[in-house]
Amino acid sequence: MEKDVLVMIPGPTPVVRSIQNEMARDVQAFGDPRFVKDYKELIDDLGELFNCSGQTFPLAGTGTLGMEMAIANVTKPGDNVLVVSNGFFGDRFIEICQRRQLNVDVLAADWGTVITPEQIDAQLAKKDYTAITVSHVDTSTAVVAPIAEIGEVLKKYPETIYIVDGVAATGAEYADVDGMNIDIMFTGSQKAFGVSPGMFVLWASQKALVKRQSLGTIPDYYIDFEKWLPIMQDPGKYFATPAVNLVWAMKEATAIIKEEGVLARSKRHEQNAAAVRAALTSIGCRILATEGRQASSLSNVIYPEGMNDLEFRNTMYDNGVIVAGALGAYAGKAFRLGHMGNITEQDMVKVLGVLEKSFNACGLKVQPGAAVGKYMAEMSHAVVAV
Ligand SMILES: Cc1ncc(COP(=O)(O)O)c(C=O)c1O
Repeated sequence: MEKDVLVMIPGPTPVVRSIQNEMARDVQAFGDPRFVKDYKELIDDLGELFNCSGQTFPLAGTGTLGMEMAIANVTKPGDNVLVVSNGFFGDRFIEICQRRQLNVDVLAADWGTVITPEQIDAQLAKKDYTAITVSHVDTSTAVVAPIAEIGEVLKKYPETIYIVDGVAATGAEYADVDGMNIDIMFTGSQKAFGVSPGMFVLWASQKALVKRQSLGTIPDYYIDFEKWLPIMQDPGKYFATPAVNLVWAMKEATAIIKEEGVLARSKRHEQNAAAVRAALTSIGCRILATEGRQASSLSNVIYPEGMNDLEFRNTMYDNGVIVAGALGAYAGKAFRLGHMGNITEQDMVKVLGVLEKSFNACGLKVQPGAAVGKYMAEMSHAVVAV
């Protein structure tokens, strides 16, 4: 029998049975009226749930393709782009933009902190920018950016397209495309939606669609808004083959989010994350992200003195839980724990129990039940208030 390993990296996240069942269905032709109806419902539901009155594009590809699609549809060579980087994934936009002959300015935060709306305002006042990119949660540092407040700042700069990378956030952290003045947001199926990797969703505002139109023909083909717009309006038409089973899986994931409610789901993530952090700090760990900017979708956890990173993560794996290593200067000194999507309190109890056991196996003495007890205590007075 294959070893059962709980996937607690920051994506892919555990996939619940009802979503697995959708991926296991007999395939249908993409023109089959039953599939066309399903795809249309997915497109419309995603637009409604995240309040986007422009166009929603759920397509085959990963989050990185979402990054490229965002940039490709609103810029032309020589345009100025402001990259706001709170870590590794913020930085990814730099190369994407440079390869497109865009002029890139970067506001980079020290790892664990974020660039503030005031800093962004000051930079936007200096120069005309065609677009600005912000990662909602940077998966390297587990900080959450103040995307609503940045959206308020952007109201002063109506010519600038506001792009939000929600790959490690959407469906866990609260987001509202129109309400937060966001022009483009995108996410990946494998994170807080709790689906296997392979699809991304991009939400584009009316302003972003108009901007795309103003560019005429662009060099990109698969990720061109204009190619997909007729298909998103009538998925019975063909442009490129949809990932049929993943569309169904995303539809089920979206139904789960809809039933829970976007706001209630973000509150659940917030409360769970706070309890996880309390549990981890109670046994000597530190959280990289500064107070107030700690993500609900994952944590970057700095080890107590004396822990061997590889030994710890291998012991966790041997005991049935996989967590991720840290990146950059924190590699070897921290690990990253995903806690987003359809994970449950029971999953977290298992993870923290295995973590205590692994700490002890690696020579760091932890009272059995200490982290689990702290987590349970925190969760028991966490009230879901919506
Ligand atoms: C914030 C963020 N942006 C972009 C990406 C890239 O997504 P993908 O690996 O699905 O291409 C990731 C991946 O982890 C991410 O966390």
